[in-house]
Amino acid sequence: MTGGLPSTGPLLEVRNLRVGFDTRRGLVEAVRGVSFTVGRERVAIVGESGSGKSMTGRAILRLVRAPGHVAADRLAFRNTDLLALPERDMRALRGRRIAMVMQDPKYSLNPVMRIDRQLGEALRAHGRLSAREARARMIAMLEDVQIRDPERVLRAYPHELSGGMGQRVMIAMMLIPEPELLIADEPTSALDVTVQLEILRILDGLVRGRGMGLLFISHDLRLVSTFCDRVLVMYRGRIVEEIGAARLSEARHPYTQGLLACLPRIGGGHDMLPVLDRQPEWEEA
Ligand SMILES: Nc1ncnc2c1ncn2[C@@H]1O[C@H](COP(=O)(O)OP(=O)(O)O)[C@@H](O)[C@H]1O
Ligand SMILES: [Mg+2]
Repeated sequence: MTGGLPSTGPLLEVRNLRVGFDTRRGLVEAVRGVSFTVGRERVAIVGESGSGKSMTGRAILRLVRAPGHVAADRLAFRNTDLLALPERDMRALRGRRIAMVMQDPKYSLNPVMRIDRQLGEALRAHGRLSAREARARMIAMLEDVQIRDPERVLRAYPHELSGGMGQRVMIAMMLIPEPELLIADEPTSALDVTVQLEILRILDGLVRGRGMGLLFISHDLRLVSTFCDRVLVMYRGRIVEEIGAARLSEARHPYTQGLLACLPRIGGGHDMLPVLDRQPEWEEA
């Protein structure tokens, strides 16, 4: 277990990250020179749909698939150069040291396997446990994500759980290997507003309690400001502003101000700014 080691420097260093797609109509630049670091803190990437947030997160885990390609001056996790890492080592790192939670638990939970079996497999992969110990661990884990009837949930198939329950189970599963960094890409956008807040509160408590780093990707600036220390605002593949979450009201960039002016709607779903007077110079670095 590496979670308790003292760390020097940031967990994650990203310098001049670029993600491009070769398409029939030429090169589409999804990420155009993004730089940031993440320590044991909560950092948000915010921007409207299509601004390059997910590609940034996926590039870190080397999950951008062809025809996409990734380049960076530096992409390092605790001083390990992620771009140079052999795929085998990358696979070992993924999930174990950097975990990713995505929007829909359907993509991460196996639909034909009961929850106890899935959690059991994840636990076994992490270390040797007797059946009894594993059971006790599973129940404790589900209680950590504030599931009140863990026995019922353990017996269930994913489709028998509500979206919020499924997401809790997924968070519990992601945390089994005690990752140092968690990338959460719109982890609650598919859920309704009250459930979103509940899940984010649980996630926030776990991240802080374990001293992990969090990279929280979202289109909702107000939401992330509650759960993050720092916010990186992305617009068309670039970071246009970086600001402390407590200081959002002092945001200088008109795009950030525009995002702030976009009140979240009950029920959510809308992640495109309706009216915003976009300036061409926002596209410059
Ligand atoms: N397979 C693809 N082919 C071409 N362009 C793509 C592809 N996938 C993503 N993109 C481009 O990458 C941009 C950023 O995508 P993404 O990172 O998913 O945005 P976000 O997560 O901010 O909504 C999109 O606007 C799109 O132009
Ligand atoms: Mg996305």
